[in-house]
Amino acid sequence: MSTAPTQRTEKKTEVGSYFISNYPPYSRWNADAISAVEQALHQPPQVSTPLGLYLHIPFCRKRCKFCYFKVFTDVKAEDVQRYVDALCKEISMVADLPVMGERPFRFVYFGGGTPSFLSPKQLTTLADRLRQHISWDGAEEVTFECEPGTLSETKVKTLREQVGVTRLSLGVENFDDKVLEENGRAHLSKQVFTSWQWIQDAGFANVNIDLISGMVGESWDNWKENIRRTIDLSPDSVTIYQMELPFNTVYSADILGNKIETPVADWPTKRAWVDYAFAELESAGYSVSSAYTMVKDASKVNFSYRDNLWTGADLIATGIASFGHASGIHYQNLAELEKYYAAIDDGRLPLGRGFVPTKHQLLVREMILLLKRGYLDIGYFRDKYGVDIYQQWADAWQNYMQSDYVTIDGDTIRLSRAGLLRADALLPVFFEDEHQGVRYT
Ligand SMILES: C[S@@+](CC[C@H](N)C(=O)[O-])C[C@H]1O[C@@H](n2cnc3c(N)ncnc32)[C@H](O)[C@@H]1O
Ligand code: SF4
Repeated sequence: MSTAPTQRTEKKTEVGSYFISNYPPYSRWNADAISAVEQALHQPPQVSTPLGLYLHIPFCRKRCKFCYFKVFTDVKAEDVQRYVDALCKEISMVADLPVMGERPFRFVYFGGGTPSFLSPKQLTTLADRLRQHISWDGAEEVTFECEPGTLSETKVKTLREQVGVTRLSLGVENFDDKVLEENGRAHLSKQVFTSWQWIQDAGFANVNIDLISGMVGESWDNWKENIRRTIDLSPDSVTIYQMELPFNTVYSADILGNKIETPVADWPTKRAWVDYAFAELESAGYSVSSAYTMVKDASKVNFSYRDNLWTGADLIATGIASFGHASGIHYQNLAELEKYYAAIDDGRLPLGRGFVPTKHQLLVREMILLLKRGYLDIGYFRDKYGVDIYQQWADAWQNYMQSDYVTIDGDTIRLSRAGLLRADALLPVFFEDEHQGVRYT
């Protein structure tokens, strides 16, 4: 087992994945595990496990050149209708699954793609039809991802009043129109400012702004201006991703196919930009909530989806290519639209692949995900898994302490700012030997 952080992140932004959202790597999941997934879904839950729902909306106005999600553009109204119908039917099927038990949904997440691509009428119909089968009125968090140019005053009100959204996440990414256009974004900065007023007026408990450090064309001056404008808007939280170029982005195809130099700033520069942003946000009263997220008022903002997911909650996945987790088993829905529709039309769950993790793999998963928060409580893992995570990976921790990425104080392992800025690069060292160096997605 190697104990050095990935060298790749010390220099150029090459094609490949950086962000780690699960373990074992997705490339190891397969269709053989589907029978185990079916079994888990058809058995009652472990009662105390929190339950969440993820709904995937795969449409966007335009495909951003850096985006690696499976999205569809140039779709007609009837294509969207067909998808919404299928999603409602899928929800009616999952609502009857024994794994639901008597549990209410603790958190709901409308993700994409662009959920705000749906019109106010489609949103109201979707919410009404879903409510015939499930209720999320008691959920502590209902998140909805929005692309600024898709919003209207009516839509924002619909999200708050009809859909019951409590946390709205706005994909701002950058405030400079030239940078937005260069990267293939469908929106311009003006739409951020117009929609911001509607969002404020609607009164969501929580509003998040997404930014990307390392968009093509970004410079120090542009970045400083981005942070100044973000602080001016004063969102409840700010999420900053470091630009990565997984295999299926437009930029990646250009780099690999046309052999062009990477157009994205190198990793040290992207980290320096995040470091600057974190420092400025701290001066404005924000505090660190994870390697990517700063919050304005830690007592007010809780991340139910993130925190429950990281600690092993059940997540019922709906929609094309969605990722779920039930009674300790990972699964993903079919990723091709026609196959997804065929399953739903036949009254079958659209399961595509899965993975049955061992107890050790669940420990690795939880530890690496929780480390993204910036600290780990050794006692928590001792109680939950009967394992001393410091002893188990003593070489890796010592190595990281020598590099000044980590400090250890009693039962707390803590990332330094330098460690936090490269958090994802520090995680593969904890993977089992068979998962070292394999493609992540
Ligand atoms: C599903 S999108 C959010 C909603 C909407 N689709 C939008 O883009 O406004 C989730 C977020 O992923 C981030 N993202 C997408 N591709 C990325 C990449 N290659 N590197 C880093 N972050 C990326 C962006 O910050 C984006 O806001
Ligand atoms: S970043 Fe958002 S808007 Fe752009 S293609 Fe990806 S999902 Fe769609």
